[in-house]
Amino acid sequence: MTSPAAPPLQLSQLGEEMRYRLLVEAVTDYAIFMLDAEGRVVSWNPGAQRLKGYTPAQILGQSFSSFYTEADRLAGLPARALVTAATQGRFEAEGWRVRKDGSRFWALVVIEPIRGEDGAIVGYAKVTRDLTERRAAEENLRRSEQQFRVLVQGVTDYAIYMLDTQGLIANWNAGAQRIKGYSAAEVVGTHFSRFYRAEDRARNEPAKALATAAREGRFEAEGWRVRKDGSEFRANVVIDAIRDDDGRIVGFAKITRDVTAQRAAQQALERAREALFQSQKLDAIGQLTGGVAHDFNNLLMVVMSSLSLARRRLPDDPKLVQLIDNALNGARRGAALTQRMLAFARRQDLKPTVVHLPALVEGMAELLTRTLGSTVQVQTAFAPDLPPVLVDANQLELALLNLAVNARDAMPDGGRLSLSAQEETLAQAGPAAPGRYVRLAVADSGSGMDAATLARATEPFFTTKGAGKGTGLGLAMVHGLAGQSGGGFMLQSQPGQGTTATLWLPVAQDDAPATAQARAAVPAPAASALRVLAVDDDPLVLTNTVALLEELGHTALQAATADEALRLLRADATIALLVSDHVMPHMTGAQLIATVRHERPQLPVVLATGYAELPAGLPPRTVRLAKPFDQAALALAIAEALADR
Ligand SMILES: Nc1ncnc2c1ncn2[C@@H]1O[C@H](COP(=O)(O)OP(=O)(O)OP(=O)(O)O)[C@@H](O)[C@H]1O
Ligand SMILES: [Mg+2]
Repeated sequence: MTSPAAPPLQLSQLGEEMRYRLLVEAVTDYAIFMLDAEGRVVSWNPGAQRLKGYTPAQILGQSFSSFYTEADRLAGLPARALVTAATQGRFEAEGWRVRKDGSRFWALVVIEPIRGEDGAIVGYAKVTRDLTERRAAEENLRRSEQQFRVLVQGVTDYAIYMLDTQGLIANWNAGAQRIKGYSAAEVVGTHFSRFYRAEDRARNEPAKALATAAREGRFEAEGWRVRKDGSEFRANVVIDAIRDDDGRIVGFAKITRDVTAQRAAQQALERAREALFQSQKLDAIGQLTGGVAHDFNNLLMVVMSSLSLARRRLPDDPKLVQLIDNALNGARRGAALTQRMLAFARRQDLKPTVVHLPALVEGMAELLTRTLGSTVQVQTAFAPDLPPVLVDANQLELALLNLAVNARDAMPDGGRLSLSAQEETLAQAGPAAPGRYVRLAVADSGSGMDAATLARATEPFFTTKGAGKGTGLGLAMVHGLAGQSGGGFMLQSQPGQGTTATLWLPVAQDDAPATAQARAAVPAPAASALRVLAVDDDPLVLTNTVALLEELGHTALQAATADEALRLLRADATIALLVSDHVMPHMTGAQLIATVRHERPQLPVVLATGYAELPAGLPPRTVRLAKPFDQAALALAIAEALADR
């Protein structure tokens, strides 16, 4: 139960004067008091007491000048404040005032005159507010803004500046100056679109960026921008809209970063990845191609030698001879093809020798002019003192011929082919492993290639020349030869800008084998009949080799494995020559020869192989015979083996 009480006093029941009095008495945040015409305090509210520390008893009747600092008092400020109020109807000012205890506060003071009914001034109303805290806050704000400005201005990695609503530059920091090259004086007040490329300006990109920032609060993009000196840089740009308290856009903050270096690094990484992918792809295709080519090689060998045997036994019928010759030619072209496939797969039987490039190219001059035709002009530029390289001379000639044919095809209306060479040392792995090379460049002024063609050009079987015209093995062969020779290969091309094919060939060390004229100098095949042991795991090839041997007048024994060959050799001391395949299961030809050397050191041997990957320590005096071989090549190899004895 609430106890009955007197009804509360209603403000409306009071007189007006009383209501004002209560109002003033209730205010504690403002000192509200009255002065008489001479400036003596005649009323004092609780706010005044709280602010200034005087009780009414202590201050009533005292001059208001005691609230001023001594300096202000001496300067006559209190009297002037009253004069201002009297003459202008109002005095308003901020300034330091003094509390009773002597401490100071920052005050906002308003003084207004009070006039009697005759208009004469009878006193003054004075309202004072303590602004110390606000002033401190403002001071803090000012200081932090200043620090911020110093910070922004000092940043050199980012261009940070502001735009007004129209896109005019309002300020400029050190980073902006460093990145874009303009000083503040040059750009402040101008439109920010000056940093854009002309075509971007034409597409209205600057205005679109501001519109996006205005609509979504933020715009971010990467693009090309132009420095003062006209050079371009890759920029990451962020534009934020700046709004006032009412949400109206008052301008934009713009931060620009130069990401040219990052972009270049990123692209280099992508290129490296792409190159790795390409080389892995080529390796995989190489494995496949090599396997297929190896089998084809054996088959073609059978076809070729059978055909040449058949040709000898043919009755004297020119038509038949012609047919067989056609077949032989076809088989030879097939063999040349498999040779290029093996080259790509890096499984060629290479005979690297010391090669002097200028001499080699000189030797090819006639062939090149014939191949290229009279409309193509050939230029050579070889550095003086060019060191010799270690490479298979015949295969290198073939590679250059492939490149020349490609150049010719790319220059149907004629043009220029230039061959140049200079020494280059690769400090780190690039187109080839680190080391000393001769860089041989073959450049044409032809049609060039687009990026898609360039990316696939070295792939085997990739051709743009149409069925029956190109096999797509030309560059594959060049690429494989360079790799297998311990060098590297690179193609550069752009549509309409011609093509440059570059080969890195290892510089020949002093102990490299001298240019081998040996094969050419081998004496004519010996006519004497021998007992020859032929070894091959492929029965077709074996039969064929045996037939070739017998055709040459020898007596041939045959073995399908290395073990069987060893048995036969131990049982028959009259065997005077061993002709063995290399790649066989259980024991390779090279291993067989190594074993035979222990037992019959003087036995001449011929090793037939389509592979280059022979063991490093091949027994000495082993004559190698490239597959597929015909009768002449076999006879030559046998003669070489016998001569070596
Ligand atoms: N110098 C060049 N200029 C322009 N395009 C070239 C050049 N060299 C090669 N190419 C392009 O690369 C493709 C592959 O070349 P590659 O030599 O491997 O095969 P091909 O010339 O088409 O056939 P092949 O050499 O076996 O007869 C060509 O079909 C051609 O599109
Ligand atoms: Mg070609």
